[in-house]
Amino acid sequence: LQFPNRVGLAAGLDKAGTAVHAFGEIGFGHVEIGTVTPRPQPGNDKPRLFRLKEHQAIINRMGFNNPGIEGLLDNLARSRKDFRGILGINIGKNAATPNEEAIRDYLLGLEGVYGAADYVTANLSSPNTKGLRDLQNAATCRELILRLQEKREEVKGDHGGKQVPLVIKIAPDLSDESIADLAKVFSETRIDGVITTNTTISREAVSGHRLASEAGGLSGAPLTTRSTAVLARLRGELDKNIPIIGSGGVMCAADARAKFDAGADLVQVYTGLIYRGPRLVREIAALAK
Ligand code: FNR
Repeated sequence: LQFPNRVGLAAGLDKAGTAVHAFGEIGFGHVEIGTVTPRPQPGNDKPRLFRLKEHQAIINRMGFNNPGIEGLLDNLARSRKDFRGILGINIGKNAATPNEEAIRDYLLGLEGVYGAADYVTANLSSPNTKGLRDLQNAATCRELILRLQEKREEVKGDHGGKQVPLVIKIAPDLSDESIADLAKVFSETRIDGVITTNTTISREAVSGHRLASEAGGLSGAPLTTRSTAVLARLRGELDKNIPIIGSGGVMCAADARAKFDAGADLVQVYTGLIYRGPRLVREIAALAK
């Protein structure tokens, strides 16, 4: 895939796929929409999003509120067609799907969004869907990847032979041992890319804040260091030909630079866009290679 620049929108902000064009205008070279689940679901009760302004951080427990695959495809079909960047679609499982059947939801996701996506991300790392992160267990993850690759072979004929890259998004709360185990799985299965990282369940960096004990995933400035450390560690273990997308606390161009230096091929932002606005995107896109 040819990315127009190295900065993208992380999943979650355009969950429903209604604003891809607008994010393109801001300057994102790629936009990842979703997480989308097979069936529509409302997500968790409100309040479910908290700004920790003193820390340039967010805690969220949205819980994949989304219109479902059909709803997302309808939105895309109705939307403007002049987005020139790369469109990623991030897939997950419904809250009501038991973990034993989780893989089926990902297969439905891949098959459903295949024609609309430039790449597909399997989100194994949201803390707000019970059991989701257990899919990061090396054996389960291997099975999931192999089944997704099998499904891709099955459906690509219906799409003119189009080969959609498969990307896995992992959590920042993995041990070094788990990162090493996963790197082996990613290398052996030749996954097309990895996103490091999603939000953290750790509250170490914001302890004492009045909102610190809210359940959910923490993003933004308190995540930067940990997320980049996971990226660096994975880069050290992963097959050199597999690209890594750095996500987690990119709040300024220097944070993006640190991720590139740690081995990221691309970066994504979410919380930084909330606190800094569109200028952040231009600053990162302008970084020298
Ligand atoms: C997210 N993120 C996210 N990730 C994902 O894979 N699927 C999702 O549905 C969501 N939803 C979501 C909602 C909200 C409100 C936030 C703040 C974040 C995680 C996001 O894509 C990103 O990986 C992390 O937030 C870390 O990056 P930032 O925000 O520190 O730049």
